[in-house]
Amino acid sequence: MQELLKKKPQLTFGFIDVESERTPVDLTISRLDRKVNMLFRDTIPEIPSTTYGTFAIFKYPAKFIPQVIAYALKEYAKSGMKIFDPFGGYSSVGLVSRVYGYDYELWDLNPILKVIHDSAIIKNPKVNPLDLIDEIKKSEAKFLPNWSNLNYWFPDDFLSVLSQAWGFIYSSPDEIKQVLLIPLLKTTRYFSFSDEKVHKLYSSKFSKEKVKSLLKRDWKTVFYDMLKKEICTLIKKVYEYNHLKPKSVKYKIKTGIDVLNTELDDEVNILITSPPYLQAQEYIRSTKLELFWLGYDENYIKELSKKEIPYNPVDEIKIYSEKYFHFRKEIKESHLIQLYDRYFHAILNAFSKLGEKVTDYMFIFVGPAKIRTTSIPIDDIIVEHLREFGWEHELTYVDQIVSRVMFESKSRINPASGLEDSRIKTEHLVVLKRKR
Ligand SMILES: C[S@@+](CC[C@H](N)C(=O)[O-])C[C@H]1O[C@@H](n2cnc3c(N)ncnc32)[C@H](O)[C@@H]1O
Repeated sequence: MQELLKKKPQLTFGFIDVESERTPVDLTISRLDRKVNMLFRDTIPEIPSTTYGTFAIFKYPAKFIPQVIAYALKEYAKSGMKIFDPFGGYSSVGLVSRVYGYDYELWDLNPILKVIHDSAIIKNPKVNPLDLIDEIKKSEAKFLPNWSNLNYWFPDDFLSVLSQAWGFIYSSPDEIKQVLLIPLLKTTRYFSFSDEKVHKLYSSKFSKEKVKSLLKRDWKTVFYDMLKKEICTLIKKVYEYNHLKPKSVKYKIKTGIDVLNTELDDEVNILITSPPYLQAQEYIRSTKLELFWLGYDENYIKELSKKEIPYNPVDEIKIYSEKYFHFRKEIKESHLIQLYDRYFHAILNAFSKLGEKVTDYMFIFVGPAKIRTTSIPIDDIIVEHLREFGWEHELTYVDQIVSRVMFESKSRINPASGLEDSRIKTEHLVVLKRKR
């Protein structure tokens, strides 16, 4: 580790003191833990901000900042390596891999991964947004989602305009689709009763007022203006991303899969991922409205929700971590013990199984979540367990979260635990190296 620290003199490494956030059961961060402080967002000059280019064309909960992935690839990957993210979410790992010329494979339960990915990697579009809007207005094609609650989420008036715009998308070639999909998803959400400031599908006083006031105005003009603005924003972000000179590499994407029932077809060199949070985030629920408009039906969306970690019952595995058992004893309520168990049985099983086909490194980015007032050292539990599977703990980088979009709701109640959700202040990137 000393060598590693010497290798990067431009960075100020230090051992952080996070005493203020710690509970008495927490262990002190020390040299023995191989933890170093880090501010990833300041390490990659070519990616000047966390929302640069197509790294931010759509709000996806708890997504990676691109600098974390870029740092890992620049420091640890070698030419010709293949990169893999089993919880691909927004597709950030794919987008960064292209910039540095690595092949990649992305998986996620959520099919929106492919929509974001395909729009984020397009060549600089040659379309004129004004012409596109005119074409949409003239379109004869119509599309409405097969959703029993459609009329609950959208006033009737908006549906004719929405169905024409979506009909146009579905009758367009891919180049047009990829420029329009994300802008239309965002505009569609704005024209619904859902509160677009909240990740999950949620109708608030604010959003009901928004619809009321839209209906009193020339809302069709507002609709097309917003769509045009969103198309311009996407085009600008695509140009920005293309400034990074992404390479045409090989990639594979699998969506709608449950990580626990899926296997890698071929070996990969590096796994880099951020698994679901212990304080359960509902990724499918948060993109439900979008999934309906993307053409998925109610039963399929329900099935996806049932597979989300840590909601679904999972096969129990043998867990090789003292800390896992130590912290489990601290939890009193049975529903929280169930959440804790499902979470660790799911993610540890996924990493130990998938790790069999990973040849060099695993980078796992996690937050030190709390159950009640107890901080759970997810990173240490992962390290202890994976040691038994031929993985050596090289280092854990501790990143400070400056601003992070989580599921915000007025009450801040965690849907899984029913308890008040406390904000996570640091996140940990665990670096594991395959033992030779
Ligand atoms: C923290 S997010 C990943 C975010 C991603 N790293 C990014 O930059 O956008 C965790 C992801 O795990 C996915 N997920 C949850 N349960 C899953 C399962 N059983 N199989 C596959 N993916 C799952 C969620 O859909 C979510 O996208």
